Amino acid sequence: MTLTVLILAAGEGKRMRSDLPKVMHLLCGKPLLHHVMETVRDLKVRRTIVIVGHGKDRVRAALPKGVLVVDQRDPRGTGHALMRAARAFPDLKGTVLVMSGDVPLFTTETVLGLLLLHRMKRADMTLATAELDDPGRYGRILRDAKGGVAAIREASDASEEELAVTEVNAGLYAFRWERIAPLLRGLKAANRQKEYYLTDLIAPAVRRGYRVLPFLLKNPAEMMGANTRQDLALLHRILYSQKADSLMEEGVTLLQPSHAYIAPDVEVGRDTIIHPGVVIENSRIGSGCVLYPGNVIRGSSVGDGTVLYPHNMIEDSAIGRGCRVGPSAHLRPGTCLEDDVRVGNFVEIKKATLGRGTKAAHLTYLGDASIGSGVNIGCGTITCNYDGVMKSRTVIGDGAFIGSDCQLIAPVTVGRNAYTASGSTITEDVPAGALAIGRARQRNILGWVKKKKG
Ligand code: UD1
Ligand code: CA
Repeated sequence: MTLTVLILAAGEGKRMRSDLPKVMHLLCGKPLLHHVMETVRDLKVRRTIVIVGHGKDRVRAALPKGVLVVDQRDPRGTGHALMRAARAFPDLKGTVLVMSGDVPLFTTETVLGLLLLHRMKRADMTLATAELDDPGRYGRILRDAKGGVAAIREASDASEEELAVTEVNAGLYAFRWERIAPLLRGLKAANRQKEYYLTDLIAPAVRRGYRVLPFLLKNPAEMMGANTRQDLALLHRILYSQKADSLMEEGVTLLQPSHAYIAPDVEVGRDTIIHPGVVIENSRIGSGCVLYPGNVIRGSSVGDGTVLYPHNMIEDSAIGRGCRVGPSAHLRPGTCLEDDVRVGNFVEIKKATLGRGTKAAHLTYLGDASIGSGVNIGCGTITCNYDGVMKSRTVIGDGAFIGSDCQLIAPVTVGRNAYTASGSTITEDVPAGALAIGRARQRNILGWVKKKKG
């Protein structure tokens, strides 16, 4: 049986009060929409169709290749989104899984459970529902005398009595498309919000005797949507605290789990100690590391036994074992620190490799550089990699010693075991084993001060 996934992502998200389309708001460093797409990534999906509208260029730009896009010009509700999909894909048939781009916590198991029920019972429509203590603004599930699903009532159109219902529409549906799509033609925007509601398909389907089944979620927290900034904060709280728990289960020390901001996809080795206020996304941290407060780590790997002192920004970098970084270092994309490297305070590194045991302990900029092992980079070293037009590389051989306050004007190579004298401006290659001195000779003018003051 073929499975198509349809993701609704055209809404504006008025309640967010944002210039960003709602589905592009970040949850643990990733757009909400990506969380939804990852839920279905491992399913055998024939086609994934994303409905875009508000902020469509930004949404489109963030979609992986192979995803089909429908432009819901002038979005007028979730039902309208389905109408547009039906028009764009007249050949659509079989099982269509409909998801909302702003509901990010559904697990793959939950989706599989819903699909299994849908197929086993040969249903025409299966919809996930949840029992909530506080059903808030979610659509209410109205049941008939026999306990079957009869309709969904949106909160804004519900009577007092209907609002008292605690079973809500979780916003996850499986459709037998050939049955349900024809009902789209009958939708009307006769409601408070003047929108075409997807949820208005349920009542006519039931009336026609179609099989509409509820799938009650075991864990109602999964249906939490991101409709407001408060919702987004709550989603973060849920994901961060789940992650903190699972890391502690795996032998990681979190000194203050309520202040650990570690995204679900991060791996951390055992006996690593993480202080409060560390943010980690899309990264792998080894075992036996210590991460002090204020480290922000994205898209990076950190080897075993490495210590990150407070307040480092580490992006798209690879750090080896036994390194010490910071406090207050900035490792920008393309930084590679081999094992036992020391990077100290106020050091910025970009697209540069530092070989084993190399030290750059203070106040330094290293960009577009290949630096060997056992190199000492003195305080205040600057690779001058940019002449306003071109970026050029600096190469430093193993065992070299760069004196304090040197400027290396790239392209330039400092040979193995060479020295550069403190305060030098190095404009020419330095042969292996040589000492380069590139600074004006000092002159002392005796008695100058006395003469000046007359
Ligand atoms: C919707 C359901 C509600 C359910 C809740 C669960 C409807 C009418 N209501 O309400 O019963 O309890 O989800 O989360 O469906 N979208 C479009 N095009 C549009 C409008 C919205 O693609 O024209 C997208 C949005 O980007 C969003 C999703 O559809 O990803 C849901 O829309 P939203 O406005 O958030 O619906 P809710 O009010 O949350
Ligand atoms: Ca929503």
